[in-house]
Amino acid sequence: MMAATATLPPLLLLVLLLAAVPAPSHGWGVDGHLMVCQIAQARGRLSGAAAAAVKDLLPSYAGNNLSSLCSWADDVKFRYPWSSPLHYIDTPDGLCSYTYDRDCKDEDGVKGRCVAGAINNYTSQLLTYGRPSSSVPEYNLTQALLFLSHFVGDIHQPLHVGFTSDRGGNTIDVHWYTRKTVLHHVWDASIIQTAEDDFYGDGVADFIDTLTKNITGVWSEQVPSWEECGKNQTACPDIYASESITAACDWAYKGVDEDSTLQDAYFSSRLPVVNLRLAQGGVRLAATLNRIFG
Ligand SMILES: *[C@@H]1O[C@H](CO)[C@@H](O)[C@H](O)[C@H]1NC(C)=O
Ligand SMILES: *[C@@H]1O[C@H](CO)[C@@H](O)[C@H](O)[C@H]1NC(C)=O
Ligand SMILES: *[C@@H]1O[C@H](CO)[C@@H](O)[C@H](O)[C@H]1NC(C)=O
Ligand SMILES: *[C@@H]1O[C@H](CO)[C@@H](O)[C@H](O)[C@H]1NC(C)=O
Ligand SMILES: *[C@@H]1O[C@H](CO)[C@@H](O)[C@H](O)[C@H]1NC(C)=O
Ligand SMILES: [Zn+2]
Repeated sequence: MMAATATLPPLLLLVLLLAAVPAPSHGWGVDGHLMVCQIAQARGRLSGAAAAAVKDLLPSYAGNNLSSLCSWADDVKFRYPWSSPLHYIDTPDGLCSYTYDRDCKDEDGVKGRCVAGAINNYTSQLLTYGRPSSSVPEYNLTQALLFLSHFVGDIHQPLHVGFTSDRGGNTIDVHWYTRKTVLHHVWDASIIQTAEDDFYGDGVADFIDTLTKNITGVWSEQVPSWEECGKNQTACPDIYASESITAACDWAYKGVDEDSTLQDAYFSSRLPVVNLRLAQGGVRLAATLNRIFG
């Protein structure tokens, strides 16, 4: 290794090193986030005011396409190390419940530094959009939009609200069919990837299309309840976090041990949960943006 790498130009070496180290996973993979944002921005889901604000806040190179920047928050974890704890919530082992006051904190115990606190934070920043900003601190509202869009996705991934000691399934080694991975990654990406390979000839676009059809079809009667948030509340992350830890216990952790091999039975019983959480994430991101921008 030393002899071979010594002759490589430093930049190439860095690229190789970065490629060799698996990135710690934090939330739906790229496709999961893309689906959530694309569902939110699908025709008719955003109000006129929200659609206009999103268009205004997105950088021009994004071409009014929120989904193209839905994984931005994962890309800036090294540039903004303070943002890492904002992607998840660690709950007490085995309890299968979540409460904001008990659980929303980072590893140093700093309150509010979790994905639910971050959703509240970026929601209040975005509420200053279009208002005179003399009395409020200046925030970069483009970043606030990108963080919010990403975190509403993350909080719907059941293992983003997982147990503390296994770091949301990150320390549970499993085999996904023949491939070695960790349980957290199965829920971030493997189930979605296998569904694309097995059912969606054109990949993620086909998958989004089916989810979008089900939102206006089989799920249409439930959708208003997904969108609900308490009176006077703009964001409702605590509801989503409680649902996630329940789904984590009922589906993600259930029947899984260290070194379990997960295949067809696990895939086919868990895919409906993943489908539902992606759809709810997209619908709720749109509903939240509609409440923020009026
Ligand atoms: C938006 O961006 C995503 C990801 O880059 C891409 O897959 C999708 O086709 C784009 N949508 C439009 C309408 O350009
Ligand atoms: C709130 O947003 C600001 C600006 O991005 C950031 O510095 C701060 O860490 C955030 N806090 C939480 C809990 O999200
Ligand atoms: C806000 O953040 C975006 C994305 O990081 C960046 O491109 C832009 O330059 C920032 N705007 C300001 C005024 O700093
Ligand atoms: C869409 O709904 C149909 C009918 O209930 C179901 O069979 C299918 O798995 C659903 N697909 C997705 C992606 O939600
Ligand atoms: C909602 O806000 C309005 C105006 O601020 C207030 O009068 C009302 O009591 C609030 N309702 C609840 C349920 O908090
Ligand atoms: Zn994330």
